[in-house]
Amino acid sequence: MIKFKRHLITSALPYANGPLHIGHLAGVYVPSDIYTRYLRLRGEDVIHICGSDEHGVPITIKARLEGVTPREIIDRYHELNKKAFEDFGISFDIYSRTSNDIHYETASEIFRSLYDKGEFIEKTTPQYYDGEAKVFLADRYIQGTCPHCSNESAYGDQCEKCGTSLNATDLINPRSTISGSKPVMRETKHWYLPLDKYEPFLKKWILEGKKHWKHNVYGQCKSWLDQGLQPRAVSRDLDWGVPVPLPGAGGKVLYVWFDAPIGYISATKELTPDWEKYWKDAETRMVHFIGKDNIVFHCIVFPSMLHAEGSYILPDNVPANEFLNLENDKISTSRNWAVWLHEYLEDFPGKQDVLRYVLCANGPETKDNDFTWKDFQARNNNELVAIYGNFVNRAIVLTNKYFEGKVPERAALTEYDREVLDALPEIKRRLEESLDQYRFREALREALNLARLGNKYLADTEPWKIWKSDPGRVATIMNISIQISAALTVLTEPFLPNSAVRLREFLNIEPIGWDRAGESDLVPAGHVIGGGGLLFEKVTDEQVEQQVNKLLATREQNSNGKQDLPPAKDNISYEQFSAMDIRTGTIISAEKVAKTKKLLKLTIDTGIDTRTVVSGIAEYFDPEKIVGKKVSVLVNLEPRKIRGIDSQGMILMAEDTGGRLVFVSPEDDIENGSIIK
Ligand code: 2FM
Ligand code: ZN
Repeated sequence: MIKFKRHLITSALPYANGPLHIGHLAGVYVPSDIYTRYLRLRGEDVIHICGSDEHGVPITIKARLEGVTPREIIDRYHELNKKAFEDFGISFDIYSRTSNDIHYETASEIFRSLYDKGEFIEKTTPQYYDGEAKVFLADRYIQGTCPHCSNESAYGDQCEKCGTSLNATDLINPRSTISGSKPVMRETKHWYLPLDKYEPFLKKWILEGKKHWKHNVYGQCKSWLDQGLQPRAVSRDLDWGVPVPLPGAGGKVLYVWFDAPIGYISATKELTPDWEKYWKDAETRMVHFIGKDNIVFHCIVFPSMLHAEGSYILPDNVPANEFLNLENDKISTSRNWAVWLHEYLEDFPGKQDVLRYVLCANGPETKDNDFTWKDFQARNNNELVAIYGNFVNRAIVLTNKYFEGKVPERAALTEYDREVLDALPEIKRRLEESLDQYRFREALREALNLARLGNKYLADTEPWKIWKSDPGRVATIMNISIQISAALTVLTEPFLPNSAVRLREFLNIEPIGWDRAGESDLVPAGHVIGGGGLLFEKVTDEQVEQQVNKLLATREQNSNGKQDLPPAKDNISYEQFSAMDIRTGTIISAEKVAKTKKLLKLTIDTGIDTRTVVSGIAEYFDPEKIVGKKVSVLVNLEPRKIRGIDSQGMILMAEDTGGRLVFVSPEDDIENGSIIK
């Protein structure tokens, strides 16, 4: 299959605005990791690129909701998500981030290069503007009714219900998600990528050249191309993102979907000085792993950018997956309807491979699929434990019992033995064929077929019954069982990497090259295996019940109309609470911090001292009007420098689901410095 010199595998850069859940793993990262591990095991030159997508309105919205800076949000989730990927063995060669300097340079360079070639159209058009919040309403800052499916909560860039990509002006009854107000129109200038101009190229490249792409991907591209493409704005009026690298473009940044895929290039640059061979040599094969909501950007927009730039290769394939649902309901971060990876690991420590297995076996490859805890339990207990674990356990235990762990010589082979040994290269071939076509579920089934074969072989030959009468026959059976176990260490490794390592330890063997996996003599007679152990454990009914109850509690909370309220945070101890020193105080002066929209510099009388606190509330309060206000102050928060000002503490605020902020003030007059407890 592999006729390329090297492979560049990219996985969609997740937004650093929330934790990762099973939908992420199933849709993108389990398949991309299996694929990359497979290529690596085959000795191919391959790199796997990913990182955090740190721009875009979802991040600024999250920051605004929490009253913190976007930087705080991206730092938090970049680290959390990086760790979750590591924990689940998603083996990126680099997990970079789009806030890095190298990314700003690379994205700016590509924009400049297209600009210098005269590719962009510059247009001044009326755009929605929030007169109260005084900002242009890009993308998710605006909501309204989808003209295609009547979903009342469609965003200015996309309707999540029907998946259509939208312009804000397409929305019916638009409203600002910042203030809730009805937006007005205001003129603003932007740069547009003329997708219509690239249509002939795209039609030839995709409709003629990519007929082998997955149906869902090809079909979506075809429908886009049949409808006819429009120029797309690649800049936005926002204060968070890569600044448009042109004189006089102050206050404008690159659209997140312009800069994010360039993140693949910047991350490769960060990984290796030899990055150009991966991006500019026709002998490299590039594959983008993504979810279906990203298809248009990876198949139409990004290739158009690369094509217009002229020196980059285009993707060979984009094996996008559909979506994973959870217990018959759409996974939703805002409704907390998800299995979060970090929570899974708390509840099932060390069981990463089980989740990888279930998410691959049930992957949404050709249609949306459902994850249920019952299915999770069944697949673990009936497949991993009863088939894979059971077989290798029996092979190891019996070899230890009858031959003191020393792999016995094979005697004359029966026809059945031969059949079993002949099946090994056949299973390997079928597994490879499936992986080469991005059919991960099918490939995993083949890997498990190897264990099925072994299980059946032991059940049919019943070595425990003939040990006394025919130890020579048992020697052959155990030898063959150990060969199958060894083959399992190779062929399951892309899917279940931790278990493959453990099984090698049980067998006391070094990694075996992929090419040898179909051979009959992977472990020589005389080799002493280890003592073994349990590769997988049963998932109990109680464990399933616990998970289901967690979801029921979420559902209950959501149906109480609290769907927009974030769930309660994890418990803290009384000591942790009492470590916080919260006092009553009075604002004695307030002024805006120069060159910022959001920050106020407050001077507070805390009773114990007079101190400065920088607070992100300038958009909500006039400085003059809050002087004299009684407030609550966290006085022992570690001081921080914000815009060069030492901020010593934090004012407590309450925020409702609509983003309205009020001070948390003592109800009655009480002397400053009183302890809040
Ligand atoms: O849909 C998403 O989560 C995007 N952050 C994916 C970006 S992929 C790439 F282009 F960076
Ligand atoms: Zn819609």
